[in-house]
Amino acid sequence: MNWYRQEARDLPWRRDPSPYKVWISEIMLQQTRVDTVIPYFDRFVAEIPDVAALARVDTDKLLKLWQGLGYYGRALRLKEAAQIMVRDFGGEVPSGVKALASLPGIGAYTAGAIASIAFGERVPAVDGNVLRVIARLAADRGDIGEPDTRRRFTLLVTQMLPAEKAGDFNQALMDLGATVCLPNGEPRCGLCPARNSCEAFRQGLTAEIPVTTQQKKRRIEDITVFVISCDGRFALRKRDDKGLLPNLWEFPNTEGRLNAEAAAAFARSLGVTPIEVYELPEARHIFTHLEWRMKGYFIRAAQCGAGEPPVWATADEISRSYSIPTALKTYEAFCRNPTAGAGKDLRQSERGEPS
Ligand code: ADE
Repeated sequence: MNWYRQEARDLPWRRDPSPYKVWISEIMLQQTRVDTVIPYFDRFVAEIPDVAALARVDTDKLLKLWQGLGYYGRALRLKEAAQIMVRDFGGEVPSGVKALASLPGIGAYTAGAIASIAFGERVPAVDGNVLRVIARLAADRGDIGEPDTRRRFTLLVTQMLPAEKAGDFNQALMDLGATVCLPNGEPRCGLCPARNSCEAFRQGLTAEIPVTTQQKKRRIEDITVFVISCDGRFALRKRDDKGLLPNLWEFPNTEGRLNAEAAAAFARSLGVTPIEVYELPEARHIFTHLEWRMKGYFIRAAQCGAGEPPVWATADEISRSYSIPTALKTYEAFCRNPTAGAGKDLRQSERGEPS
């Protein structure tokens, strides 16, 4: 706790740890790094300052604020949870891990984090960083990918929690894991306030612990691909020059499996006006370390937006001049024969009516 008082990272949601801000930050931090989250968090709470505003926010605006953070399902679940808070909890983020964990998007870790940080409840919040810290402190060779180990470590943290300021204690463990007790055998033990009570340090085992015996599985990414047609041309964008499939051209796409409503909203966030929305067949593509599971939509648009997506090309131009990754070939075929094999027009359900 002394170390945390001195060394805590200065993060915007820590300056005013209101339940709303803590909740938003924890959801953003679920799959995204702290450095990336900060500007998104500031913009989000400035535009949508409380539960009531979030419950009635326009989905397009919500997705626009989320654009670039990835995993859009998190944003949709935030709005859903806000509507439940308005209906069942007087428009406030509820206290208590049980009520919290009953809400969309909030699992055991996130419930513990919100309850302890925002409400001062004496409950643990054990994420991957904390598992590593505890494994080393106890020189415990349990596989931290195993539910049994997680349960055991959660119990240990519960016993360690101080009577007051459990939120600070949990965040101290998180920061220790993120800045000092680093993974891959590279902990900075010289800077560690817990060095003298660390069994792994004492026994020289910090390179071997934590143990993760689980074979690295191929990561599975759900993505939604958009074939957007406007005046006989199709929207394309260029992939980043680093990372997977660098510099290839692709159809606009986003992580997660979007339903028709979210798909139309995503298209609008690119500046196009959807007239028809058709579901396309699913596809998958296997890379060495990654598998894409794709859901597709064909969207006929009335108005091609300026700016994003950067290029509109005819089917001939695409096959002539633009390199589309093999992974997306299933969808490229729909540029030649747009609605063959496509599902039904989903505009009805987009308006929330039964189709
Ligand atoms: N990761 C997730 N939540 C966090 C928090 N409150 N502090 C530091 N890292 C985190």
